[in-house]
Amino acid sequence: MWGYDPGQHSRVPLLDALEAGPDGRAPRPKTAPRRPGLVPAHPDLAASRIPDDLVADCLLAWAGEWSKGYVVVDTHPGANPLTDGAMQAADLVVVPVILAAREMDALEGMLADYVAYRLLLVPNMVPGVPNRRFVERLARSAGTTPVAPPISEHRWLRRRLRRAAVTLELNPGARLKAAADEFQRVAVTVGEILGH
Ligand SMILES: Nc1ncnc2c1ncn2[C@@H]1O[C@H](COP(=O)(O)OP(=O)(O)OP(=O)(O)O)[C@@H](O)[C@H]1O
Ligand SMILES: [Mg+2]
Repeated sequence: MWGYDPGQHSRVPLLDALEAGPDGRAPRPKTAPRRPGLVPAHPDLAASRIPDDLVADCLLAWAGEWSKGYVVVDTHPGANPLTDGAMQAADLVVVPVILAAREMDALEGMLADYVAYRLLLVPNMVPGVPNRRFVERLARSAGTTPVAPPISEHRWLRRRLRRAAVTLELNPGARLKAAADEFQRVAVTVGEILGH
């Protein structure tokens, strides 16, 4: 989605850096205007069998080297060493939540599995008139886990081809700005929880 096609590159800097370990060099993020710095993933990572504690140690070392305010790790769903390692290293695990039956079942399973982690639930793709039953179920399931302000369903987002971050557009129209404001509110919530 950020314009990185793994098929066009022979080297995999993220995999090289993980194999070098936490004492090696951090992979250098690719930068482009109005996009976050990006260290791309690659299909080979899934087969690499890098253990979760090595992933966690590397991320912590790299975060120090990058010295940005935040490092965001966009993970694959389900239990796997890459996701587990990222969750171990994370100050906060941001979990998108869809207000629908099967998704809520999955969320409740996840909350039970990850009681030891600091989580933030973010309702996403919330329709204009949310289903009250699911809103109430989310409040019940969340218990003491914080819930961020919701992100609405923005149908145009699915068709958007521009690679600028929604929050970094220079001249956003009204609907883009509405979405950007929602994402910004989630970011503010993250900052509040982390005391930034
Ligand atoms: N709030 C929203 N409103 C409308 N569409 C959305 C919203 N959030 C995400 N989408 C769309 O849903 C699709 C999947 O979203 P996203 O990539 O965030 O999910 P994902 O679970 O991380 O998927 P993947 O497994 O591909 O990484 C995308 O096409 C995205 O544009
Ligand atoms: Mg994704």
